[in-house]
Formats: sequence, structure tokens, C-alpha cells
Amino acid sequence: MEDVTVKMHKIRVIGIGPGSPDYLLPAAVKAIAAARVLVGGRRALAQYAGDACRTFPIGGDIPAVMSFIKQELESDDVGVLVSGDPGYYSLLDALRREFPRERIEVIPGLSAMQLAFCRLALPWHEAKLLSFHGRKPAREELRYQPGRVLGMLTDGKFNSHTITSLLMAEGWPKEALCSILLRLSYPDEEITHTTLAEAQELEEKSHGILIVQG
Ligand SMILES: C[S@@+](CC[C@H](N)C(=O)[O-])C[C@H]1O[C@@H](n2cnc3c(N)ncnc32)[C@H](O)[C@@H]1O
Repeated sequence: MEDVTVKMHKIRVIGIGPGSPDYLLPAAVKAIAAARVLVGGRRALAQYAGDACRTFPIGGDIPAVMSFIKQELESDDVGVLVSGDPGYYSLLDALRREFPRERIEVIPGLSAMQLAFCRLALPWHEAKLLSFHGRKPAREELRYQPGRVLGMLTDGKFNSHTITSLLMAEGWPKEALCSILLRLSYPDEEITHTTLAEAQELEEKSHGILIVQG
């Protein structure tokens, strides 16, 4: 009898954790090893794509990434490497707008935010998590309340200077504890524990995690 089953190729969105392979899940290692097509940032591709893999780097041109994925899906599965966890500010958002859910399989990763709270030995179940990466949270989300804990992704514009100044303007005391965590899991990881006011005096730090404790 004629086989009418049409194989539907999948997009496998693979969370690669904060950077070091020490924090990569075995499920992600297997998915990467099995992939014949990989899309990801240049650094991730250099780290994980084998020589036989067809690759496409994620730069500023997201429509080009989507076109590449669509074309490759006609003949193969496509692995998409994203930093941290795919469910937390990654390309998964854009992929869900472009492709049906059944086409997408997600392999979780350890978020840089999780590792940041681990480094402080601080539970995060009551922390408010915010992203300043290419966006600015609403003012009411930044407001001070005693005991409040904020965990924040930062970028170049919203960094250890601009964010600490915004928080003090929203009533946070200048002596509130402020931890700045950069390049987590890499050999040159850098963690600074300071206060909101003192963070203003230190060198500006960007593209990391800021945790403040009220
Ligand atoms: C687009 S978000 C991606 C978040 C990622 N999906 C996650 O779960 O960690 C990029 C931001 O994540 C944070 N980030 C990613 N890797 C990091 C690391 N190794 N150390 C500190 N912050 C990191 C920085 O705030 C960076 O600007």
C-alpha cells in the first residue's frame, strides 16, 4: 500500500544556558549532536555547530532567519540555539508568530537569571523579574516596597548607572543592596555587590543581570 504519511520536519529550539557547556542539559547536548541544520548567534554556532552542519547566523535580520528556517524545513529538522531558556526573552516569541505550535519543540535551558539568583544563594520565588533588554518596564513595576526583590536583564542603554538611577527615583533607598552579575558561567565571570548609590560611582556595567534587594 502506498505510504501517504508526510514527514513534518520540526524546529527544535534549544536553550543553551548562560554560556558554559557545564550548564547545558544532556537533552540539549543530544539535540545539538543530532542536528544537521543549526541557526544561532555566531558565538553559539562557533561553539556548538559541527563541520557537517548547515548553519545560519542570527544577526539583526530576523526575516532572513525565518526564510532560511522555512526553506530548510522542507527537507530537514532545524535546530535553533538560543541563550538561557527559550521561554524567557528569546527568538521563540518570533518563531511562534511565524510557525504553528506543532512544528516547534522546545528544549529548556538554564536562564542567566536563574544562575544569577544561585550565585547570591537567594530564592527567587518572590522576586519580580524584569527585562531592560531593549525595553523599559512600566514605572509601577519599579516602585519601592520594603523587602521587594527585583531581578533585571540589562542592555547597553539600560545599565548599572541608568537602572540604579531610575530605581532611586522610584523611591528605592540609596543603601539598598545591588548585585551586578556579568558574563555568568564564563571564566571571566564578574560579580559586584554594592548599593544603589555606590553603583553610580563605579564603572558602568551592561549586558548582565542586576539584582536589588529592598
Ligand atoms: C535576550 S536576553 C536572553 C535571556 C535568556 N533567554 C535567558 O534565559 O537567560 C539577553 C540578556 O540576558 C542576560 N544574559 C544572558 N547571558 C548572560 C550571562 N552569561 N551573564 C549575565 N547575563 C546574561 C543579559 O541581560 C542579556 O542582555
